[in-house]
Amino acid sequence: MLRKILKVIAIVLSSLIVLILVAGIVIYVLSEQRINKLYTVSVAPVTIPTAETEIREGERLAKIRGCTSCHMADLAGDSAFIAGAPVGRIPSANLTSGQGGRGQTFSDVDWVRAIRYGVNQAGRGLWIMPSHEYFSMSNQDLGRLIAYLKTIPAVDRVHPPRQLGPLFRTLLVAGQLPLLAVEELDLTAAPPTAPPPGETVEYGSYLAVTCSGCHGANYTGGPLPGADPGSPEAANLTPGGVMKNYSEAQFIAALRTGIRPDGSAIPNEAMPWQVLGGSLTDSELKTLYMFFQSLPASSVDAS
Ligand code: HEC
Ligand code: HEC
Repeated sequence: MLRKILKVIAIVLSSLIVLILVAGIVIYVLSEQRINKLYTVSVAPVTIPTAETEIREGERLAKIRGCTSCHMADLAGDSAFIAGAPVGRIPSANLTSGQGGRGQTFSDVDWVRAIRYGVNQAGRGLWIMPSHEYFSMSNQDLGRLIAYLKTIPAVDRVHPPRQLGPLFRTLLVAGQLPLLAVEELDLTAAPPTAPPPGETVEYGSYLAVTCSGCHGANYTGGPLPGADPGSPEAANLTPGGVMKNYSEAQFIAALRTGIRPDGSAIPNEAMPWQVLGGSLTDSELKTLYMFFQSLPASSVDAS
């Protein structure tokens, strides 16, 4: 009897091991296909301005669009931006013209392809780089941003090659990891025409894209992508969520000072109010407020 039970256990265990091995191989092969896929993008050129005021505007855009949050304040990137055995290693690229920097070899078209489409010089999809947020950026803003990137001081910082770990491969194949922004884009479509700057709901929606990476595509908040369980979730920015607590003045104050209407502090580690509030103009903050108040009230806290 005991031998029979042991035999059954042995069979179950060995089948399990075989199953796990097979699943591992399937996940590896499928993820390799996704990350090695080559994309050809016919990149429409963008005018790169040279005036100092336009370059300074590009510098401001690099802050409000989050470039400095991931690529560091000097834009030379972080080798350990994402690093750990289960997830792999994804350095945020060095964008300067120093050693290891993309600026050394990038043409204007390379900049547009990388930022707007999330595709590198070799034609492979960039990882984690949120080009789906930049696809809709106006040619004018994109041009200013590139103009600025071409002038930043050279920093020598050579990053190790990127590499995808087993956990990220599994999540990618399971459709739970937005690794490749290029997969979400229609590469044959022209980028949408951006609304003209102004205090309008449409322009507010253009600006708010920069909040969507954390507050969700519908701005209903929820856990931050890739965050450890238990870390603060992004707030629901619709009138069904926190926006019902905010007057326009309180909203502007919260982004400038990090203080909420009830007097408590927004934790800066989670919500980059300093970099956002420090660079967005009053008019842009008003426009964002107008946009969030125009959203359908949602009471779900999930993106
Ligand atoms: C959420 C983090 C994040 C944000 C925000 C972000 N990037 Fe990136 N970016 C990355 C990572 C990570 C890589 C490296 C991707 C890779 O090697 O696959 C990258 C790669 C790039 C590359 C391509 C380098 C190459 O190897 O071809 C360029 C150019 C770039 N980013 C520019 C920008 C600009 C400009 C902005 C702001 C408009 C920006 N990034 C915002 C994370 C980010
Ligand atoms: C890097 C991620 C990230 C980005 C980008 C981001 N937020 Fe947040 N935000 C958070 C998180 C996380 C919280 C919740 C912090 C907490 O309350 O613990 C938060 C909280 C807030 C709050 C306070 C809500 C409350 O409790 O009253 C406001 C207002 C807000 N964000 C507005 C914005 C706006 C507007 C933008 C874009 C201009 C933006 N956020 C961009 C992560 C982000």
